[in-house]
Amino acid sequence: MTSLFLGLVTLLLLQTKVLFAWQDYKDYKVYELNLQGIEQEVLIQKLSREKPLWDFLTPKANESSLRVMIPPEESDNLITTLKIYNLEYRLLIDDLAPYVKAQRAENLKRKKLIQLPHIDVLAAFYTHSEINEYLDSLPERFPKRVQVKHFGWSYERRPLKVLTISNGDGKRDKPVILIDGTVHAREWISPSMALYIIQQLLDNYSENKELLEDYDWVIMPVVNADGYEYTHTDSRYWRKTRRPTSNPDCVGTDINRNFAHEWGHDEGSSSDPCEDIYRGERPFDQPESQVLRDVLLHYKGRLNFYLSLHSYGNYLLLPWGYTKEFPEHYQDMMNVADAGAKAIVHSTNGIYSYGSTYYVLYPTSGDTTDFALGAINATVAMTMELPAAGFMGFDPWVSHIERLVTESWVGVRAMAVEVITRYPA
Ligand SMILES: *[C@@H]1O[C@H](CO)[C@@H](O)[C@H](O)[C@H]1NC(C)=O
Ligand SMILES: *[C@@H]1O[C@H](CO)[C@@H](O)[C@H](O)[C@H]1NC(C)=O
Ligand SMILES: *[C@@H]1O[C@H](CO)[C@@H](O)[C@H](O)[C@H]1NC(C)=O
Ligand SMILES: [Zn+2]
Repeated sequence: MTSLFLGLVTLLLLQTKVLFAWQDYKDYKVYELNLQGIEQEVLIQKLSREKPLWDFLTPKANESSLRVMIPPEESDNLITTLKIYNLEYRLLIDDLAPYVKAQRAENLKRKKLIQLPHIDVLAAFYTHSEINEYLDSLPERFPKRVQVKHFGWSYERRPLKVLTISNGDGKRDKPVILIDGTVHAREWISPSMALYIIQQLLDNYSENKELLEDYDWVIMPVVNADGYEYTHTDSRYWRKTRRPTSNPDCVGTDINRNFAHEWGHDEGSSSDPCEDIYRGERPFDQPESQVLRDVLLHYKGRLNFYLSLHSYGNYLLLPWGYTKEFPEHYQDMMNVADAGAKAIVHSTNGIYSYGSTYYVLYPTSGDTTDFALGAINATVAMTMELPAAGFMGFDPWVSHIERLVTESWVGVRAMAVEVITRYPA
């Protein structure tokens, strides 16, 4: 009797816990800041390091404004600081909760119409397990052309899968275009883009044949599986992994600062587990980084184009991130970026900025692109920051997906053609 009662209480508590797992972002605020001059930019860099709770978001290419998301208890503090430094600001969102709630409701409603393992990339955002279910269904539909490879597990034991796509001619060891997505959990257009590329190469093969004539494609839609799942179930704006750190209050490491090439510079990464750019205790101490490293190593010697899909900001970012020096074949990589940026301008007027991460965006140390070039010797290594949408830039509505992925595909396709032409098999 007692144990039954206890069992019921436990069940109730568990349910309460599940109910309260979803972070509602009640009274979270979003401000837009207008930066004037390099001094204010430096100040923002400094504040974003000193104030882990103030979430400064990437500025868009060629814009002087940027957004910051603030928990309610930090709001006064932020305003005081902005006033002291004479920064121009404007309140964009007074309470993020209704927006987060509406987006979540929209997506869940859309997904009721989906019959897994079939998915419609343009109709919803999918979870990691839904994406895996879709990937696992592909070999049956394209037996000669795809393979699903299981390269390892996330910290919370989610299977991390990689899809290889060929034209089915049976030729081995073709050069490879390798694309990853969702290194950062909250950047939801990234997995959508990876899925869209898969669908273009499979379902729209007749229009894209030449992309697979002499090259194979390798696509890993979700690297940070735990973090990404967490953005669906708990906290929409989570970025890092979900592995605990040495600080009991702060969870997660930035995979994109955890890679071994020139890991650990304080300019471009952080040793503080509470920061969004926390690099980990040592390189590759995150299981997800190890898996992506192993994928890259597996294709070493064949890797002609490594492309990492992030959002947002409209950037094509090349190595190096860790230094202001340029890599040896920088100009060749620039030509590939140039092809992508020009194709996008031509098709939609979308403006991309491109160049080395260090110059075009900000210093980063331990990122995946530096590793792909520095340790794997990829011919071209690039991070693509897809366009902003939604309230925060990385939270598009379902209705934005089509515009974002079709525009981005024009760029990815043009860059692939450029790589294939420049570096024939
Ligand atoms: C198929 O690919 C071509 C070339 O990239 C593109 O123009 C067309 O819109 C694609 N069709 C679909 C249905 O995605
Ligand atoms: C962005 O602005 C800089 C100068 O502020 C300019 O040199 C560059 O060409 C611009 N980039 C694009 C893609 O318009
Ligand atoms: C890296 O690749 C280039 C060709 O892209 C080649 O010339 C060079 O020898 C390679 N370096 C190493 C260390 O493998
Ligand atoms: Zn990112």
